[in-house]
Amino acid sequence: MNDVEGVRNLVGTGLVQLVGGVLTAFISLALLIKISPMMTVYVLVPVAIFGVVSLKAFGYIRPVFRERGKINAEVTGRLTETLNGVRVIKGFNAEKQEIKSFEEGTEKLFLNVKKSLTATSIITSSATFLLGLSSTGIMGIGGYMIMNNDLTIGQFLSFTLYLGFMIAPIVQMSNIGSQLTEAFAGLDRTEELMNMESEDDGSIRTQKIKNIEGHVQFSNVTFGYEEEKKVLHDISFDARPGSVTALVGSSGSGKSTIAALAASFVTPNAGTITVDGHDLSLISLENFRSQLGVVLQDDFLFEGTIKENILFPRPNATDEEVVAAAKAAYVTEFTDRFEEGMATVIGERGIKLSGGQRQRIAIARAILANPRILILDEATSNLDTESESYIQKSLENLMGGRTTFVIAHRLSTIRRADQILVIENGLIVEQGTHDDLISEEGRYFELYTYQARI
Ligand SMILES: Nc1ncnc2c1ncn2[C@@H]1O[C@H](COP(=O)(O)OP(=O)(O)O)[C@@H](O)[C@H]1O
Ligand SMILES: [Mg+2]
Repeated sequence: MNDVEGVRNLVGTGLVQLVGGVLTAFISLALLIKISPMMTVYVLVPVAIFGVVSLKAFGYIRPVFRERGKINAEVTGRLTETLNGVRVIKGFNAEKQEIKSFEEGTEKLFLNVKKSLTATSIITSSATFLLGLSSTGIMGIGGYMIMNNDLTIGQFLSFTLYLGFMIAPIVQMSNIGSQLTEAFAGLDRTEELMNMESEDDGSIRTQKIKNIEGHVQFSNVTFGYEEEKKVLHDISFDARPGSVTALVGSSGSGKSTIAALAASFVTPNAGTITVDGHDLSLISLENFRSQLGVVLQDDFLFEGTIKENILFPRPNATDEEVVAAAKAAYVTEFTDRFEEGMATVIGERGIKLSGGQRQRIAIARAILANPRILILDEATSNLDTESESYIQKSLENLMGGRTTFVIAHRLSTIRRADQILVIENGLIVEQGTHDDLISEEGRYFELYTYQARI
Protein backbone atom coordinates (compact mmCIF):
# COMPACT_ATOMS: atom_id res chain seq x y z
CA MET A 1 0.00 0.00 0.00
CA ASN A 2 2.78 2.41 0.93
CA ASP A 3 4.84 1.64 -2.12
CA VAL A 4 2.09 2.39 -4.59
CA GLU A 5 1.15 5.51 -2.62
CA GLY A 6 4.42 7.05 -3.83
CA VAL A 7 3.45 6.29 -7.40
CA ARG A 8 0.07 7.92 -6.87
CA ASN A 9 1.78 11.10 -5.63
CA LEU A 10 3.95 11.15 -8.70
CA VAL A 11 1.24 10.56 -11.26
CA GLY A 12 -1.31 12.71 -9.45
CA THR A 13 0.72 15.90 -9.02
CA GLY A 14 4.41 15.43 -9.77
CA LEU A 15 4.17 14.42 -13.40
CA VAL A 16 1.91 17.32 -14.36
CA GLN A 17 4.25 19.79 -12.71
CA LEU A 18 7.25 18.17 -14.33
CA VAL A 19 5.87 18.45 -17.87
CA GLY A 20 4.75 22.07 -17.38
CA GLY A 21 8.01 22.99 -15.69
CA VAL A 22 10.27 21.52 -18.35
CA LEU A 23 8.30 23.19 -21.13
CA THR A 24 8.43 26.63 -19.43
CA ALA A 25 12.16 26.28 -18.72
CA PHE A 26 12.98 25.46 -22.34
CA ILE A 27 10.93 28.31 -23.82
CA SER A 28 12.49 30.73 -21.33
CA LEU A 29 15.95 29.46 -22.17
CA ALA A 30 15.39 30.13 -25.88
CA LEU A 31 14.24 33.69 -25.11
CA LEU A 32 17.23 34.25 -22.79
CA ILE A 33 19.66 33.20 -25.51
CA LYS A 34 17.92 35.53 -27.93
CA ILE A 35 18.35 38.52 -25.58
CA SER A 36 21.93 37.86 -24.49
CA PRO A 37 23.90 34.68 -25.18
CA MET A 38 26.75 35.86 -22.95
CA MET A 39 24.60 36.36 -19.87
CA THR A 40 22.82 33.06 -20.58
CA VAL A 41 26.11 31.17 -20.51
CA TYR A 42 26.83 32.72 -17.14
CA VAL A 43 23.45 31.50 -15.87
CA LEU A 44 23.88 27.99 -17.28
CA VAL A 45 27.12 27.24 -15.43
CA PRO A 46 25.58 27.17 -11.92
CA VAL A 47 22.53 25.38 -13.32
CA ALA A 48 24.76 22.63 -14.69
CA ILE A 49 26.58 22.31 -11.36
CA PHE A 50 23.23 22.08 -9.63
CA GLY A 51 22.10 19.41 -12.08
CA VAL A 52 25.13 17.23 -11.34
CA VAL A 53 24.79 17.68 -7.56
CA SER A 54 21.11 16.82 -7.52
CA LEU A 55 21.48 13.78 -9.79
CA LYS A 56 24.14 12.42 -7.41
CA ALA A 57 21.91 13.14 -4.42
CA PHE A 58 18.87 11.46 -5.95
CA GLY A 59 20.98 8.42 -6.84
CA TYR A 60 22.03 8.30 -3.20
CA ILE A 61 18.53 8.48 -1.75
CA ARG A 62 16.82 5.96 -4.01
CA PRO A 63 18.11 2.91 -2.07
CA VAL A 64 17.31 4.79 1.14
CA PHE A 65 13.68 5.10 0.03
CA ARG A 66 13.61 1.43 -0.97
CA GLU A 67 14.99 0.50 2.44
CA ARG A 68 12.31 2.62 4.06
CA GLY A 69 9.54 0.60 2.42
CA LYS A 70 11.09 -2.56 3.82
CA ILE A 71 11.53 -1.17 7.36
CA ASN A 72 7.99 0.17 7.33
CA ALA A 73 6.60 -3.24 6.39
CA GLU A 74 8.67 -4.93 9.10
CA VAL A 75 7.65 -2.54 11.86
CA THR A 76 3.93 -2.62 11.02
CA GLY A 77 3.99 -6.41 10.60
CA ARG A 78 5.61 -6.92 13.98
CA LEU A 79 3.21 -4.46 15.58
CA THR A 80 0.18 -6.32 14.21
CA GLU A 81 1.54 -9.60 15.57
CA THR A 82 2.20 -8.02 18.94
CA LEU A 83 -1.35 -6.75 19.18
CA ASN A 84 -2.77 -10.13 18.20
CA GLY A 85 -0.71 -11.86 20.87
CA VAL A 86 -1.32 -9.25 23.54
CA ARG A 87 -2.53 -11.79 26.11
CA VAL A 88 0.55 -13.95 25.79
CA ILE A 89 2.74 -10.88 26.09
CA LYS A 90 0.94 -9.69 29.22
CA GLY A 91 0.84 -13.20 30.63
CA PHE A 92 4.60 -13.50 30.47
CA ASN A 93 5.14 -9.91 31.55
CA ALA A 94 6.98 -9.29 28.29
CA GLU A 95 5.68 -5.77 27.59
CA LYS A 96 9.10 -4.16 28.09
CA GLN A 97 10.70 -6.50 25.62
CA GLU A 98 8.01 -5.83 23.00
CA ILE A 99 8.19 -2.08 23.56
CA LYS A 100 11.93 -2.29 23.08
CA SER A 101 11.61 -4.17 19.82
CA PHE A 102 9.08 -1.60 18.57
CA GLU A 103 11.40 1.21 19.61
CA GLU A 104 14.24 -0.37 17.72
CA GLY A 105 12.06 -0.54 14.63
CA THR A 106 10.99 3.09 14.84
CA GLU A 107 14.59 4.16 15.55
CA LYS A 108 15.64 2.40 12.34
CA LEU A 109 12.87 4.21 10.50
CA PHE A 110 13.94 7.54 12.01
CA LEU A 111 17.57 7.05 10.97
CA ASN A 112 16.41 6.20 7.47
CA VAL A 113 14.24 9.33 7.24
CA LYS A 114 17.14 11.40 8.59
CA LYS A 115 19.42 10.07 5.88
CA SER A 116 17.03 10.99 3.08
CA LEU A 117 16.23 14.36 4.69
CA THR A 118 19.93 15.30 4.65
CA ALA A 119 20.10 14.55 0.96
CA THR A 120 16.91 16.41 0.06
CA SER A 121 18.02 19.38 2.18
CA ILE A 122 21.28 19.59 0.24
CA ILE A 123 19.32 19.68 -2.99
CA THR A 124 16.88 22.34 -1.79
CA SER A 125 19.53 24.59 -0.29
CA SER A 126 21.79 24.33 -3.31
CA ALA A 127 18.79 25.29 -5.44
CA THR A 128 18.26 28.39 -3.31
CA PHE A 129 21.96 29.19 -3.45
CA LEU A 130 21.88 28.87 -7.23
CA LEU A 131 19.00 31.32 -7.37
CA GLY A 132 20.95 33.91 -5.36
CA LEU A 133 24.16 33.37 -7.28
CA SER A 134 22.64 33.81 -10.70
CA SER A 135 20.55 36.88 -9.73
CA THR A 136 23.53 38.72 -8.24
CA GLY A 137 25.73 37.81 -11.15
CA ILE A 138 23.14 38.90 -13.69
CA MET A 139 22.67 42.23 -11.92
CA GLY A 140 26.41 42.88 -12.10
CA ILE A 141 26.92 41.80 -15.69
CA GLY A 142 23.65 43.39 -16.83
CA GLY A 143 24.54 46.72 -15.18
CA TYR A 144 27.95 46.69 -16.80
CA MET A 145 26.49 45.95 -20.24
CA ILE A 146 23.90 48.74 -19.85
CA MET A 147 26.69 51.21 -19.01
CA ASN A 148 28.51 50.16 -22.19
CA ASN A 149 25.27 50.52 -24.18
CA ASP A 150 25.37 46.81 -25.12
CA LEU A 151 21.99 46.24 -23.48
CA THR A 152 18.87 48.36 -23.09
CA ILE A 153 17.07 48.67 -19.75
CA GLY A 154 14.03 47.05 -21.38
CA GLN A 155 16.08 44.02 -22.47
CA PHE A 156 17.58 43.73 -19.00
CA LEU A 157 14.14 43.78 -17.44
CA SER A 158 12.80 41.06 -19.72
CA PHE A 159 15.96 38.97 -19.20
CA THR A 160 15.48 38.94 -15.41
CA LEU A 161 11.80 38.06 -15.79
CA TYR A 162 12.51 35.16 -18.18
CA LEU A 163 15.31 34.05 -15.88
CA GLY A 164 12.76 33.75 -13.10
CA PHE A 165 10.59 31.62 -15.39
CA MET A 166 13.51 29.33 -16.10
CA ILE A 167 14.83 28.98 -12.54
CA ALA A 168 11.48 28.52 -10.78
CA PRO A 169 10.69 25.14 -12.42
CA ILE A 170 14.22 23.95 -11.70
CA VAL A 171 13.78 24.71 -8.02
CA GLN A 172 10.39 23.06 -8.16
CA MET A 173 11.89 20.05 -9.85
CA SER A 174 14.12 19.44 -6.86
CA ASN A 175 10.90 18.69 -5.00
CA ILE A 176 9.49 16.58 -7.79
CA GLY A 177 12.83 14.78 -7.94
CA SER A 178 12.40 13.38 -4.45
CA GLN A 179 8.83 12.38 -5.29
CA LEU A 180 10.12 10.76 -8.45
CA THR A 181 12.81 8.91 -6.54
CA GLU A 182 10.35 7.69 -3.93
CA ALA A 183 7.99 6.54 -6.66
CA PHE A 184 10.73 4.62 -8.45
CA ALA A 185 11.83 2.98 -5.22
CA GLY A 186 8.21 1.96 -4.64
CA LEU A 187 7.96 0.67 -8.20
CA ASP A 188 11.10 -1.42 -7.66
CA ARG A 189 9.51 -3.10 -4.67
CA THR A 190 6.16 -3.54 -6.40
CA GLU A 191 7.91 -5.08 -9.39
CA GLU A 192 9.71 -7.55 -7.12
CA LEU A 193 6.32 -8.70 -5.82
CA MET A 194 4.72 -8.88 -9.26
CA ASN A 195 7.59 -10.98 -10.57
CA MET A 196 7.19 -13.63 -7.89
CA GLU A 197 6.18 -16.99 -9.23
CA SER A 198 2.50 -17.69 -8.75
CA GLU A 199 1.38 -20.94 -7.16
CA ASP A 200 -1.12 -21.77 -9.88
CA ASP A 201 1.22 -21.62 -12.87
CA GLY A 202 -1.07 -21.78 -15.90
CA SER A 203 1.65 -23.19 -18.15
CA ILE A 204 2.30 -26.23 -15.93
CA ARG A 205 -1.00 -26.78 -14.17
CA THR A 206 -3.03 -27.18 -17.31
CA GLN A 207 -5.27 -30.17 -16.56
CA LYS A 208 -8.87 -29.73 -15.58
CA ILE A 209 -11.04 -32.53 -14.22
CA LYS A 210 -14.74 -32.07 -14.93
CA ASN A 211 -16.26 -33.87 -11.98
CA ILE A 212 -13.73 -34.64 -9.29
CA GLU A 213 -14.65 -37.90 -7.60
CA GLY A 214 -12.02 -37.68 -4.90
CA HIS A 215 -9.84 -40.73 -5.45
CA VAL A 216 -6.50 -39.70 -3.92
CA GLN A 217 -3.42 -41.89 -4.29
CA PHE A 218 0.05 -41.34 -2.88
CA SER A 219 2.78 -43.41 -4.50
CA ASN A 220 6.31 -43.37 -3.09
CA VAL A 221 6.02 -39.75 -2.02
CA THR A 222 9.11 -38.21 -0.47
CA PHE A 223 9.12 -34.65 0.76
CA GLY A 224 11.24 -32.20 2.74
CA TYR A 225 10.71 -28.50 3.48
CA GLU A 226 14.46 -28.14 3.00
CA GLU A 227 16.46 -29.99 0.35
CA GLU A 228 18.59 -32.17 2.60
CA LYS A 229 16.13 -32.68 5.48
CA LYS A 230 13.40 -35.06 4.34
CA VAL A 231 10.27 -35.06 6.48
CA LEU A 232 8.39 -37.86 4.66
CA HIS A 233 9.89 -40.98 3.12
CA ASP A 234 8.31 -43.20 0.53
CA ILE A 235 4.67 -42.70 1.53
CA SER A 236 2.17 -44.82 -0.44
CA PHE A 237 -1.52 -45.26 0.22
CA ASP A 238 -4.84 -45.21 -1.54
CA ALA A 239 -7.82 -43.13 -0.38
CA ARG A 240 -10.91 -44.31 -2.27
CA PRO A 241 -13.65 -41.81 -3.12
CA GLY A 242 -15.81 -41.12 -0.08
CA SER A 243 -13.53 -42.98 2.33
CA VAL A 244 -12.07 -41.69 5.60
CA THR A 245 -8.32 -41.93 6.11
CA ALA A 246 -7.11 -41.22 9.62
CA LEU A 247 -3.53 -40.19 10.32
CA VAL A 248 -2.16 -40.84 13.79
CA GLY A 249 1.29 -40.59 15.29
CA SER A 250 3.32 -38.51 17.69
CA SER A 251 3.67 -34.81 17.07
CA GLY A 252 6.26 -33.86 14.47
CA SER A 253 5.91 -37.22 12.74
CA GLY A 254 4.63 -35.67 9.50
CA LYS A 255 0.82 -35.90 9.65
CA SER A 256 0.14 -32.26 8.78
CA THR A 257 2.71 -32.49 6.01
CA ILE A 258 0.78 -35.36 4.40
CA ALA A 259 -2.38 -33.24 4.64
CA ALA A 260 -0.53 -30.28 3.10
CA LEU A 261 0.59 -32.50 0.22
CA ALA A 262 -2.97 -33.69 -0.34
CA ALA A 263 -4.16 -30.06 -0.42
CA SER A 264 -1.33 -29.25 -2.87
CA PHE A 265 0.01 -26.55 -0.53
CA VAL A 266 3.36 -28.21 -1.14
CA THR A 267 4.49 -30.59 -3.89
CA PRO A 268 6.44 -33.86 -3.50
CA ASN A 269 10.20 -33.96 -4.13
CA ALA A 270 9.84 -37.50 -5.45
CA GLY A 271 6.92 -39.81 -6.15
CA THR A 272 3.47 -38.72 -7.26
CA ILE A 273 0.09 -37.87 -5.84
CA THR A 274 -2.83 -38.47 -8.14
CA VAL A 275 -6.44 -37.34 -7.97
CA ASP A 276 -8.81 -39.54 -9.97
CA GLY A 277 -5.72 -40.82 -11.77
CA HIS A 278 -4.40 -37.38 -12.79
CA ASP A 279 -1.08 -36.09 -11.45
CA LEU A 280 -2.01 -33.50 -8.82
CA SER A 281 0.98 -31.30 -9.63
CA LEU A 282 -0.42 -30.79 -13.15
CA ILE A 283 -4.04 -30.07 -12.20
CA SER A 284 -5.15 -26.44 -12.19
CA LEU A 285 -5.35 -25.35 -8.54
CA GLU A 286 -8.50 -23.37 -9.22
CA ASN A 287 -10.08 -26.58 -10.49
CA PHE A 288 -8.79 -28.82 -7.69
CA ARG A 289 -9.40 -26.50 -4.76
CA SER A 290 -12.98 -25.83 -5.80
CA GLN A 291 -13.52 -29.39 -4.55
CA LEU A 292 -11.35 -29.07 -1.43
CA GLY A 293 -12.37 -28.11 2.10
CA VAL A 294 -10.20 -27.64 5.17
CA VAL A 295 -10.91 -27.41 8.87
CA LEU A 296 -7.78 -26.69 10.87
CA GLN A 297 -6.94 -26.58 14.54
CA ASP A 298 -6.56 -22.84 14.77
CA ASP A 299 -9.24 -21.87 12.37
CA PHE A 300 -9.35 -18.63 10.56
CA LEU A 301 -12.43 -16.52 11.25
CA PHE A 302 -12.43 -12.90 10.20
CA GLU A 303 -14.18 -9.93 11.68
CA GLY A 304 -17.75 -9.91 10.48
CA THR A 305 -20.99 -11.71 11.20
CA ILE A 306 -21.21 -15.44 11.83
CA LYS A 307 -23.22 -15.75 8.62
CA GLU A 308 -20.53 -13.99 6.58
CA ASN A 309 -17.92 -16.33 8.02
CA ILE A 310 -19.90 -19.37 6.96
CA LEU A 311 -20.69 -17.88 3.55
CA PHE A 312 -17.17 -17.11 2.48
CA PRO A 313 -16.37 -20.21 0.39
CA ARG A 314 -19.68 -19.77 -1.51
CA PRO A 315 -20.85 -16.16 -1.30
CA ASN A 316 -23.85 -16.84 -3.54
CA ALA A 317 -25.41 -19.59 -1.42
CA THR A 318 -29.06 -19.13 -0.49
CA ASP A 319 -30.26 -18.42 3.05
CA GLU A 320 -31.74 -21.92 3.31
CA GLU A 321 -28.38 -23.48 2.44
CA VAL A 322 -26.59 -21.38 5.07
CA VAL A 323 -29.12 -22.29 7.73
CA ALA A 324 -28.92 -25.96 6.79
CA ALA A 325 -25.11 -25.89 7.09
CA ALA A 326 -25.33 -24.04 10.40
CA LYS A 327 -27.80 -26.61 11.72
CA ALA A 328 -25.70 -29.57 10.58
CA ALA A 329 -22.64 -28.11 12.32
CA TYR A 330 -24.61 -27.29 15.51
CA VAL A 331 -23.88 -23.59 15.08
CA THR A 332 -27.54 -22.71 15.61
CA GLU A 333 -27.26 -24.46 19.00
CA PHE A 334 -25.44 -21.35 20.31
CA THR A 335 -26.49 -18.63 17.86
CA ASP A 336 -30.13 -19.16 18.86
CA ARG A 337 -29.17 -17.81 22.25
CA PHE A 338 -27.69 -14.62 20.73
CA GLU A 339 -29.98 -11.66 20.32
CA GLU A 340 -28.96 -11.19 16.69
CA GLY A 341 -28.53 -14.88 15.90
CA MET A 342 -26.40 -15.55 12.84
CA ALA A 343 -26.02 -11.81 12.23
CA THR A 344 -23.94 -11.46 15.41
CA VAL A 345 -20.61 -9.81 14.72
CA ILE A 346 -17.58 -11.72 15.97
CA GLY A 347 -14.03 -10.54 16.52
CA GLU A 348 -12.64 -7.26 17.69
CA ARG A 349 -15.86 -5.28 17.48
CA GLY A 350 -18.23 -8.08 18.41
CA ILE A 351 -18.68 -11.10 20.55
CA LYS A 352 -15.79 -13.42 21.41
CA LEU A 353 -16.47 -17.10 20.85
CA SER A 354 -15.12 -20.16 22.61
CA GLY A 355 -12.77 -22.54 20.83
CA GLY A 356 -15.55 -25.07 20.29
CA GLN A 357 -17.92 -22.49 18.86
CA ARG A 358 -15.28 -21.21 16.46
CA GLN A 359 -14.57 -24.76 15.40
CA ARG A 360 -18.25 -25.40 14.65
CA ILE A 361 -18.41 -22.28 12.45
CA ALA A 362 -15.40 -23.60 10.56
CA ILE A 363 -17.19 -26.93 10.10
CA ALA A 364 -20.39 -25.21 8.90
CA ARG A 365 -18.27 -23.37 6.36
CA ALA A 366 -16.86 -26.66 5.09
CA ILE A 367 -20.35 -28.19 4.91
CA LEU A 368 -21.59 -25.25 2.86
CA ALA A 369 -18.60 -25.50 0.52
CA ASN A 370 -19.66 -29.10 -0.15
CA PRO A 371 -16.21 -30.32 -1.26
CA ARG A 372 -15.33 -33.80 -2.54
CA ILE A 373 -12.05 -33.85 -0.61
CA LEU A 374 -11.86 -32.79 3.00
CA ILE A 375 -8.95 -32.21 5.35
CA LEU A 376 -9.47 -32.08 9.09
CA ASP A 377 -6.24 -31.28 10.90
CA GLU A 378 -6.71 -31.61 14.66
CA ALA A 379 -10.16 -30.12 14.38
CA THR A 380 -11.16 -31.69 17.69
CA SER A 381 -8.11 -31.09 19.86
CA ASN A 382 -8.18 -28.84 22.90
CA LEU A 383 -11.94 -28.79 23.27
CA ASP A 384 -14.12 -29.26 26.30
CA THR A 385 -16.19 -32.45 26.42
CA GLU A 386 -19.51 -30.71 25.81
CA SER A 387 -18.27 -28.99 22.67
CA GLU A 388 -16.63 -32.17 21.56
CA SER A 389 -19.85 -34.12 21.43
CA TYR A 390 -21.38 -31.40 19.21
CA ILE A 391 -18.28 -31.32 17.08
CA GLN A 392 -18.26 -35.07 16.82
CA LYS A 393 -21.83 -35.02 15.53
CA SER A 394 -21.21 -32.11 13.17
CA LEU A 395 -18.08 -33.78 11.82
CA GLU A 396 -20.11 -36.88 11.03
CA ASN A 397 -22.51 -34.68 9.07
CA LEU A 398 -19.56 -33.14 7.28
CA MET A 399 -17.59 -36.28 6.45
CA GLY A 400 -20.48 -38.24 4.97
CA GLY A 401 -19.61 -39.33 1.42
CA ARG A 402 -16.45 -37.26 1.07
CA THR A 403 -12.84 -38.37 0.75
CA THR A 404 -11.63 -37.29 4.16
CA PHE A 405 -8.19 -37.03 5.74
CA VAL A 406 -8.54 -36.68 9.47
CA ILE A 407 -5.75 -35.98 11.90
CA ALA A 408 -6.73 -36.25 15.53
CA HIS A 409 -5.16 -36.76 18.91
CA ARG A 410 -8.36 -38.27 20.26
CA LEU A 411 -8.50 -41.77 19.00
CA SER A 412 -12.27 -41.91 19.55
CA THR A 413 -12.56 -39.61 16.50
CA ILE A 414 -10.84 -42.10 14.23
CA ARG A 415 -12.20 -45.45 15.33
CA ARG A 416 -14.67 -45.49 12.49
CA ALA A 417 -12.17 -44.55 9.76
CA ASP A 418 -11.91 -46.82 6.72
CA GLN A 419 -8.16 -46.93 7.08
CA ILE A 420 -5.75 -45.71 9.71
CA LEU A 421 -2.16 -44.77 8.88
CA VAL A 422 0.22 -44.71 11.81
CA ILE A 423 3.04 -42.29 11.01
CA GLU A 424 6.37 -42.23 12.83
CA ASN A 425 9.38 -40.19 11.70
CA GLY A 426 7.92 -39.64 8.27
CA LEU A 427 7.21 -43.31 7.59
CA ILE A 428 3.98 -45.30 7.57
CA VAL A 429 4.66 -47.87 10.29
CA GLU A 430 1.19 -49.43 10.44
CA GLN A 431 -1.82 -49.39 8.17
CA GLY A 432 -5.29 -50.88 8.50
CA THR A 433 -8.66 -50.54 10.20
CA HIS A 434 -9.11 -50.03 13.90
CA ASP A 435 -9.87 -53.68 14.53
CA ASP A 436 -6.90 -54.87 12.42
CA LEU A 437 -4.48 -52.62 14.22
CA ILE A 438 -5.81 -53.45 17.67
CA SER A 439 -5.40 -57.17 17.02
CA GLU A 440 -1.85 -56.55 15.74
CA GLU A 441 -0.97 -55.11 19.16
CA GLY A 442 1.62 -52.72 17.68
CA ARG A 443 2.11 -48.98 17.89
CA TYR A 444 -1.57 -48.13 17.39
CA PHE A 445 -2.58 -50.57 20.08
CA GLU A 446 -0.07 -48.86 22.38
CA LEU A 447 -1.45 -45.39 21.61
CA TYR A 448 -5.03 -46.55 21.96
CA THR A 449 -4.69 -48.37 25.24
CA TYR A 450 -2.61 -45.52 26.65
CA GLN A 451 -5.37 -43.05 25.85
CA ALA A 452 -8.17 -45.34 26.95
CA ARG A 453 -6.55 -45.50 30.39
CA ILE A 454 -6.74 -41.70 30.82
N1 LIG B 1 6.94 -25.04 7.17
C1 LIG B 1 7.88 -25.90 7.63
N2 LIG B 1 9.19 -25.66 7.35
C2 LIG B 1 10.14 -26.51 7.79
N3 LIG B 1 9.89 -27.62 8.51
C3 LIG B 1 8.62 -27.90 8.82
C4 LIG B 1 7.54 -27.05 8.40
N4 LIG B 1 6.38 -27.58 8.84
C5 LIG B 1 6.71 -28.69 9.51
N5 LIG B 1 8.05 -28.90 9.49
C6 LIG B 1 8.77 -30.06 10.09
O1 LIG B 1 8.27 -31.22 9.48
C7 LIG B 1 8.13 -32.26 10.44
C8 LIG B 1 6.70 -32.79 10.40
O2 LIG B 1 5.82 -31.77 10.79
P1 LIG B 1 4.25 -31.93 10.79
O3 LIG B 1 3.85 -32.58 9.51
O4 LIG B 1 3.65 -30.61 11.08
O5 LIG B 1 4.03 -32.93 12.01
P2 LIG B 1 2.68 -33.37 12.73
O6 LIG B 1 1.53 -32.71 12.06
O7 LIG B 1 2.66 -34.85 12.62
O8 LIG B 1 2.82 -32.95 14.15
C9 LIG B 1 8.53 -31.67 11.79
O9 LIG B 1 9.85 -32.11 12.06
C10 LIG B 1 8.50 -30.19 11.56
O10 LIG B 1 9.51 -29.58 12.32
MG1 LIG C 1 0.19 -31.25 12.80
